[in-house]
Amino acid sequence: MSENHGLVRVVYSDNCLKPINIHEYEKLATEHLSQMALDYYNSGAWDEITLQDNCAAFKRVKLRPRMLVDVSKRNLTTKVLGQTLQIPVLIAPMAFQCLAHSEGEIATALAAAKAGVGMVLSTLSTKSIEEVSTSVHNTNFVAPQWFQLYIHKDRALTRTLVERAYAAGYKALCLTVDAPVLGQRERDRRNQFTLPLGLELANLTSLSGLNIPDPEGESGLFTYFAEQLDPAVTWRDLEWLQSLCPLPLAVKGILRGDDAALAVEYGAKAIVVSNHGGRQLDGAIATLDALAEIVEAVDGRAEVILDGGIRRGVDILKALALGAKAVLLGRPVLWGLAVGGEAGVAHVIELLRNELDVAMALSGCTSLDDVDSSLLAWEKHQVIS
Ligand code: FNR
Ligand code: LAC
Repeated sequence: MSENHGLVRVVYSDNCLKPINIHEYEKLATEHLSQMALDYYNSGAWDEITLQDNCAAFKRVKLRPRMLVDVSKRNLTTKVLGQTLQIPVLIAPMAFQCLAHSEGEIATALAAAKAGVGMVLSTLSTKSIEEVSTSVHNTNFVAPQWFQLYIHKDRALTRTLVERAYAAGYKALCLTVDAPVLGQRERDRRNQFTLPLGLELANLTSLSGLNIPDPEGESGLFTYFAEQLDPAVTWRDLEWLQSLCPLPLAVKGILRGDDAALAVEYGAKAIVVSNHGGRQLDGAIATLDALAEIVEAVDGRAEVILDGGIRRGVDILKALALGAKAVLLGRPVLWGLAVGGEAGVAHVIELLRNELDVAMALSGCTSLDDVDSSLLAWEKHQVIS
């Protein structure tokens, strides 16, 4: 039995309607989120040009599939920072996941671990560093968890966050460098974004929460960044950070080859090509367009990961063909979480895994090693321009 709401939907046994792709999750999520949460999750900065262009960039890249290859067996596994992933995907760090579901980051972490997908926990999570790691350690599933760091003006507090992540078993630090101040998301400003009572910054309980509307009418998160985060962070701080614990460092938010090279010189083992999902500098280059220059500058000295705009499995194939080792998955996870908690996130991952698997078969690839630049119909320089 099926019902048509303008979407192709399948009726679940429990009468829920199950989406068949990420676009349907995006639409369905609107029914499960408050306006404030929906706007916070989906918005970009200013005119949202970069937000849209991240997705458009994938549409611009065309493929040259190989035929008559035996693709009866396909292997989608890879390693990032020496850590095994069942598919080349980690969940992007995203703040405030309890806005989508009461289990928040714990539900996301369980779905990721069970699928063998990595997860990067945000500093601004609504479940704590320890709660999230313990929930996964209590299962038999093993998948890497990384901790995303925002450097606060209070360096002692920042140091404690790093030490807690290390003690809790996180396998890498992911320093976000594209947010010295928060981008201006006008939907959040209009809503005077706050966290509902009962939700808190679970890792930062010593700081005042975001539950009270900002007296100036700003987004509460914008004000939090202005008050608490350090806009004076520079490359030198990467040395300090690496002195705090032995975890490998990923630098997230790089959009230029020269910055990528600097990150490598300062010790980064992974570079995340990211514009924060179009939430920071509107007008910044789409991540897929920035990728080739960065891969060239890094020249194999670190692993390159891309995020922004991944909505289909074939998008992952395109990012890998342009030189990424893996991708981070952002909003689709929040949509899955809003619709179905852990099961919704698991289904979102499964849909993308299936699409990537089919895209590989149709391109003549049996493993991720076969996914190279010869699959691209455009020369790399054309993709950049
Ligand atoms: C983010 N992102 C983000 N990044 C980060 O380093 N720390 C964070 O706390 C957050 N929080 C956050 C919240 C929400 C609601 C979104 C949508 C995004 C950015 C995120 O890690 C990633 O770069 C983008 O989401 C990737 O783009 P897509 O996949 O959402 O298009
Ligand atoms: C955001 C921050 C928290 O994008 O990274 O909302």
